[in-house]
Amino acid sequence: MSVHHLQIHSKNSPAYGCRDNRHYLKAHGIRFAGKPLGRPKKVTEENRETLKRLKAQRQEEYLQRIPIEGKFGQGKDGYRLNYIRAKRADTSVAWINSWNINNGLRSPNYSFTGTPPARFSARIAPQLVGMGLLEAIDEADIEALEDPGGSDGDGISGRIRLVTDAETGQTRVGRFGWKASQPSVKQQVSAALNTDIGVMTSIHDMPDCGAQQSGCGASGAELADQYLDTLSAYISLLGVSARRDLSDPVALQGEAVFNSTGCAACHIPTF
Ligand code: HEC
Repeated sequence: MSVHHLQIHSKNSPAYGCRDNRHYLKAHGIRFAGKPLGRPKKVTEENRETLKRLKAQRQEEYLQRIPIEGKFGQGKDGYRLNYIRAKRADTSVAWINSWNINNGLRSPNYSFTGTPPARFSARIAPQLVGMGLLEAIDEADIEALEDPGGSDGDGISGRIRLVTDAETGQTRVGRFGWKASQPSVKQQVSAALNTDIGVMTSIHDMPDCGAQQSGCGASGAELADQYLDTLSAYISLLGVSARRDLSDPVALQGEAVFNSTGCAACHIPTF
């Protein structure tokens, strides 16, 4: 893998451009994309071009703020261990350029390079923190909450997805992945390596050809178990930040509403 020169600049909202933040960014060599503080510099013959260039740069960076998925796409077949791609500024085609605030809730406005597509939808990838804690919840505790027929009268039904453990062949509770298709963090990591970036492991040792394709490559683990284990341990141990504002009345009111409106019927607080 080649290492690219990392150019750091901040594309944060001008709302974050207070004096303290600017000092921090400056001290860490990060350029802030917002307007400079203070009265605008007087335009002279000498600085006209420089000021113009700085302004154009600020505007460009502001517009490119918070690039979203862009055209990362599926594109599985070209990927191998030494060719893992990530989204870069020059491969991104969509970004959030502003938002509207209504009733305290922000809704984003998207921009596209070129013609905006007729239809599009945004995605937020699931967080990768606290996975080890979730895995530590006993399967029996999850089974005890299952209510397939909605018979407990709270208006909510829920079924456990049972999956086959690819390492042991046992039937297990599925709990990781968009559709709870994997029973453990390790198997989720292995499946992600295989289907998202085309890297085979001992657990998923066949190429991810898709339903319509066959003969799309040799089989066999490419990543040694040792690395799958360390990667899984790393993901498992990414921590959850401590809860803030524990005694803030507004936060406590939110917690009460969360419980009283039934959110906690699915989002079990003790988990
Ligand atoms: C019927 C069960 C159920 C109820 C009731 C419920 N949720 Fe959820 N919620 C889910 C599930 C399942 C997910 C995960 C969806 C996914 O990942 O695709 C989720 C996801 C979320 C997420 C996203 C979490 C993340 O990490 O991205 C938030 C935030 C959330 N719920 C808040 C609430 C709030 C607030 C309420 C009450 C108004 C509520 N939920 C009521 C089942 C429920």
